[in-house]
Amino acid sequence: MAAAKTGLTGLASWKALKSNFEKIKDAHLRELFASDPNRGSRMVIDAEGVYFDYSKHRVNDETLKLLVKLAEESGLKAKIDVMFRGDRINTTENRSVLHIALRTPKGKSIMVDGVDVVVPVHAVLDKMAVFADKVRKGLWKGYTGKTIRNIVNIGIGGSDLGPVMAYEALKSYTMRGLTFRFVSNVDDTDFAEATQDLNAEDTLFIVSSKTFTTLETMTNARTARAWVLKSLKDQAAVAKHFVAVSTNTAEVSKFGIDTANMFEFWDWVGGRYSMTSAIGLSNMIAFGPDNFRAMLDGFHRMDEHFRTTPFEKNIPVLMGLLGIWYINFFNAETNAVLPYEQYLKRFPAYLQQMTMESNGKQVTMEGARVDYQTGSIYWGEPGTNGQHSFYQLIHQGTKLIPCDFIAFAKSLNPTGNHHDILLANVFAQAEALAFGKTAGEVKADGAPDNLVSHKTFEGNKPSTMILMDKLTPNALGMLIAMYEHCVFTQAAVWDINAFDQWGVQLGKVLAEKIVPELEAKEEPVLKHDSSTNALIKRYRKLK
Ligand code: F6P
Repeated sequence: MAAAKTGLTGLASWKALKSNFEKIKDAHLRELFASDPNRGSRMVIDAEGVYFDYSKHRVNDETLKLLVKLAEESGLKAKIDVMFRGDRINTTENRSVLHIALRTPKGKSIMVDGVDVVVPVHAVLDKMAVFADKVRKGLWKGYTGKTIRNIVNIGIGGSDLGPVMAYEALKSYTMRGLTFRFVSNVDDTDFAEATQDLNAEDTLFIVSSKTFTTLETMTNARTARAWVLKSLKDQAAVAKHFVAVSTNTAEVSKFGIDTANMFEFWDWVGGRYSMTSAIGLSNMIAFGPDNFRAMLDGFHRMDEHFRTTPFEKNIPVLMGLLGIWYINFFNAETNAVLPYEQYLKRFPAYLQQMTMESNGKQVTMEGARVDYQTGSIYWGEPGTNGQHSFYQLIHQGTKLIPCDFIAFAKSLNPTGNHHDILLANVFAQAEALAFGKTAGEVKADGAPDNLVSHKTFEGNKPSTMILMDKLTPNALGMLIAMYEHCVFTQAAVWDINAFDQWGVQLGKVLAEKIVPELEAKEEPVLKHDSSTNALIKRYRKLK
């Protein structure tokens, strides 16, 4: 593979950041705060209802200026404009990248190949709304005339993670009389557990797949069809109990789903950026068309903030640049996402696909091997649970882990003083990580000499605090778009394609070859490596 022409590492801003890093790498946040009493109110962006506090990062004004210069020298502004106007920036798949069109208000237009894509976007949204209302009002009947009460989304990756996350995030806005389940894994347990207490008569399956060929989804969809037919015993039942969300009309029809009950989207919507397309159908049924549209408005608000705000005040741009600062200069490998909001329990899992399938790339747009690190590993759990689990390592371990804290000023279930305790904890964690506790302070507390080092907190652990008013559909949309554009910013600087995913292919192809070897009646001739051959043989013996 050709080596990168070091476009990035040759930039003046990159070199200047290297020198800045040498100066600042040992500076402690304690000193940075002591030398600037206004740091905590100065290094903040207060925009669109988001209070974005980046003061607890290991940066000085010079670092921030240089990071912004890095974005400029990387052509970020032009790259944003090119995405928003629909150019085919996903070059390896020759596709436009227009998830932003999915939340563009009616009346505006985005032209792709002479077609205004905003028009079909709203046509599909309207069709989804009619269908969602029918189900919510009990007007969609199953084959035997029973009202549909259970909705099962079958999909994987982007056709699952967004809908599950948003369903959990906005649960308090959902129609509680309906049951929602999500089946993604090809592991038969997933389907079995999701349906074990359901009846086919009042269950609707939404088969969500951009391609309608994904092995896991189609295996689960066929199992669902057999499950329905086993109890309803008539092929005609499929039309009443299955709808599809896809770009592939031919395959939907081949499966036996009436294409009148297909909700379309387009090849310019990447799987992991698709939750604002018809892939969100289960969400629209769950929390209603109005809340779904409010969520889209939140996305659009953040899209516009990203597109129009100068980089120094641009939340996703700064988020992305700070990530680059730690990954490429401090050699940090991971980024923790810590929502202090129980409803966001699936948010880190959702972000994992968005961030890692996007930016887990080793070659530049031109196909040359990068000579710098790319995509960070995203992980996390809701607070305060994480505090009693892995926070020990963040506080006192040997690794540097930048943290994103996410919190809301208002609870959706106010009970006693739970919320004050919750918020006290998130503020305390950020404070403890940044400032730590010195050996002197530990001694002054009366710790015996042999425990002083154990009880010392070095501090200087960076974090961002994202504080919003309340977890509403609008706020959720803004939060997700913030991360989408953070990913875009990083990809623009790293000069990688955030919108393809060739890395998932090889395993898929090999699995397809192995399936018949596991199922063959006769002992197959195995031509894998000795480990894979032995595993296949052992499985055949055990199964
Ligand atoms: O993991 C690979 C991938 O292509 C994802 O990008 C996508 O979200 C997922 O598979 C599901 O694909 P589909 O919606 O076509 O079933």
